[in-house]
Amino acid sequence: MSAGRNRDLSDLVDKGYVVIRSFLDRHEITLFEADISQNEGVWYEAYRVKIPPRNLLLHLSDKLDALTAAISMQTDIEATFMIGGVYFFTDGGQRFSWHQDRESYYFTQTHYHYLNFYIPIIKPDAGKSNLSLIPMNRLHERSPDLYEQVLGRGACLVEETQHNSIFCNENEGGKYGSVNYDLSEIAETPELKSGDLLLLRGDVIHKTQDAETSRVALSIRFTQGSHAVSKAKLVDGGFKKFTKMLEMPAFYQSLLAYFDARGTEDIPFQDFYSDDFAQFCRTCQGTRSGLRRYLVNEKLRRRLWQSLMEVGAGAMRAEAGRVNRNARRWLKERLAKSAWRSALFR
Ligand SMILES: [Fe+2]
Repeated sequence: MSAGRNRDLSDLVDKGYVVIRSFLDRHEITLFEADISQNEGVWYEAYRVKIPPRNLLLHLSDKLDALTAAISMQTDIEATFMIGGVYFFTDGGQRFSWHQDRESYYFTQTHYHYLNFYIPIIKPDAGKSNLSLIPMNRLHERSPDLYEQVLGRGACLVEETQHNSIFCNENEGGKYGSVNYDLSEIAETPELKSGDLLLLRGDVIHKTQDAETSRVALSIRFTQGSHAVSKAKLVDGGFKKFTKMLEMPAFYQSLLAYFDARGTEDIPFQDFYSDDFAQFCRTCQGTRSGLRRYLVNEKLRRRLWQSLMEVGAGAMRAEAGRVNRNARRWLKERLAKSAWRSALFR
């Protein structure tokens, strides 16, 4: 099949997602079903997930690469670097409420150039246990201010109360704002069968439709490999981000130590998937207390440096103002003197 060359992908920009039917063939679905049945899985927070081996994902390389290349050609989205994959389950009632993904945003720092290839593998009912999505163009129509704030970003969690939905900012902290309508009014829930592809940008707000059927979905993530990851942005953020980072100390300490070892503030994303980084990680140790100490020190150092820069800039502005005032006074006196002379001696 043509994975994308002749397909209209403009909805990926307008709505933030597209659906491609029968993206996987029967043989490919069987390969993933076999992996799911023998894959032990890991717990992440309160959720159990499974990680497919990379060589299994590479079976799809031709299709995935053709599609990401077509996206680069047809849109301004650049996401041709495969990060990896994960299986999501609804077993045991596992479901997610309205959110943008969080950790992937902390790390990649871009969710516009970030694609989630969401493919149900085990899907008993096309009408159940799908992903519900807030189309970006509908969010723009109903809540343009909120749209601007979440566009290209991640780590937004929506808290639904009886009267409104509050968009919480789990990156910097605080709230983006709220809406007083039911988000289901603007949401869409594409019905997917096993092997169908829902391709969505990282900034699209989504949730699990329901956990009434036993569904397993494969999710493969791509981003822009050359995108610069900033150490300052990684360190910065609110208390929620701080506590979430502390839950994965080995991961974040390795990233931060790599910036220090290379003596730079920016590293291309793809370098964190290099042999050099893998080698470097073997020398790293991550502890919760170590990461907490590191982050607090970095935040204080950066805040102090910023304050010093602000004080320095303020002092320079004051000095420039003083020099300017003196120059004007001198000029005024010179002009007054020359006027007095010309009045006396003309
Ligand atoms: Fe998600």
